[in-house]
Amino acid sequence: MITLGIETSCDETGIAVVKDGRILSNEIASSLRFHKPYGGIVPEIATRFHVEAIEEVFKRALLEAGVKKDQIDLVSFTYGPGLVGSLLVGVSFAKALGFSLNIPIIGINHLQAHTFSAVIDKGSIPFPFISLIISGGHTGLAFVRDFDKFELLGQTLDDALGEAFDKVSKILGYGYPGGPIIEKLAKRGNPDNVRLQYNYESTDSFDFSFSGIKTAVLYYVRDLQRHNKKPNEYDIAGNFQQTVIKIIFEKIKLACEIKGTSTIMVSGGVSINKHLRNYLRSHSKHYKLKIIFPKDNLCLDNGAMVASLGEYLFKKKRFISNFYISAVSNLGFDSNFKGEGYDKFTVNN
Ligand code: KG4
Ligand code: ZN
Repeated sequence: MITLGIETSCDETGIAVVKDGRILSNEIASSLRFHKPYGGIVPEIATRFHVEAIEEVFKRALLEAGVKKDQIDLVSFTYGPGLVGSLLVGVSFAKALGFSLNIPIIGINHLQAHTFSAVIDKGSIPFPFISLIISGGHTGLAFVRDFDKFELLGQTLDDALGEAFDKVSKILGYGYPGGPIIEKLAKRGNPDNVRLQYNYESTDSFDFSFSGIKTAVLYYVRDLQRHNKKPNEYDIAGNFQQTVIKIIFEKIKLACEIKGTSTIMVSGGVSINKHLRNYLRSHSKHYKLKIIFPKDNLCLDNGAMVASLGEYLFKKKRFISNFYISAVSNLGFDSNFKGEGYDKFTVNN
C-alpha cells in the first residue's frame, strides 16, 4: 500500500511517500528564511510559500520514491492544529488529489502525528505510553492507549517550550529559531553561575508554565545592563535550558507514576536538543523508565509522520475522511474520531 503524506501546518511544506510503513521519500521546503527578519513565523508569508511550493515538493516526493501519481492508494494530510491559511493549502491539495485520483483521503491530527514519529518505521507501537510533545507551537502531555485513544493530561498555560527558547534567544540578542542557538550557547556556560528570580512550585498538576522563567531571564539581563554589566549569555542560556529540562522530567515522571506506565515518547522540534535527550535518558534510566525519541530528521515538521499515522489508521482502524473535512486550526491534542473536528469522519468497514 502506498500512502502520500502532506504536512503544511506551519512553515514547512512536507510531502512524503510511505509504502507499508517504509519511508520511500520525505521532501521538505521551508519558508523559515523569509520569517527570520520578523523574529517569528508570519502566517501570511507561510501560506503564500505553501501555495508556491506544494506542487514542486509533491513532484520531488514522487520522483525520489520512484512512484507514479496513479500508484498512490491513500492521501493522508494534516488538518489541524496549526495556522489556518497554511493548513488550508495542504487540505485543499489533498482533497483535489483524492478526488481526481478517486482514492481515499484521511485527515490527521498534527500533534498525534508527532507523537508516533519516534516509532514510525518500527512496525509495533508500545501501547500504552505517555506522549510528551515539545514544539514551537505546542507543549502537551497525553496518555495514549491506542491510535485513536488519547487522554490529555496537561498542556502549557502560556508559552510553548520552543517558544520560550525562541524568546530567550531574542532577549539575549540572538535570532530565530532560538532553540539551536540556546543549545549552542549553553554548551559553553555554567548554569550554577546564574540565579534567576522566579516562582516555581512543584505541584501535582500536569500543566506547564514557561513564561515565568522567560521573564526572569528578561529581568536578570535588564538589571545587569542597567548597572552597565555585560550578562554572561552562556551561563544564562545554560541555566534556562537546565531549568526547563528539569521541569519536563518532573512532569513525565509524575505522569508515568499516576498512569502506571513506564514508556515515554518525546516529540516535536525541541526534542532534537541533545542536552535534553541526555538528561531525560539518564534520569529515566535511574527510575527504570523507557524514553524514546524520533530520529533527528523526524523531530521537525515532516510529511512522513503524517503518511505513517494515516496508513496505521486506515489499515488498523479502517478510518477515512469524506470531502467535507476542512482545516481546524485549534484542534486539541486528544481530539479523536468521536471528538470535535473529527465528526466528518466515516468508518469504512
Ligand atoms: O515542531 P516544530 O518544527 O514546529 C512546531 O510545530 O511548532 O518546532 C519548532 C521549535 C522552535 O521553537 C525551535 O526553537 C525549537 O523547535 N527547536 C529547538 C531546537 N531546535 C529547534 N529547541 C531546543 N533545542 C534545539 N536544538
Ligand atoms: Zn509540529
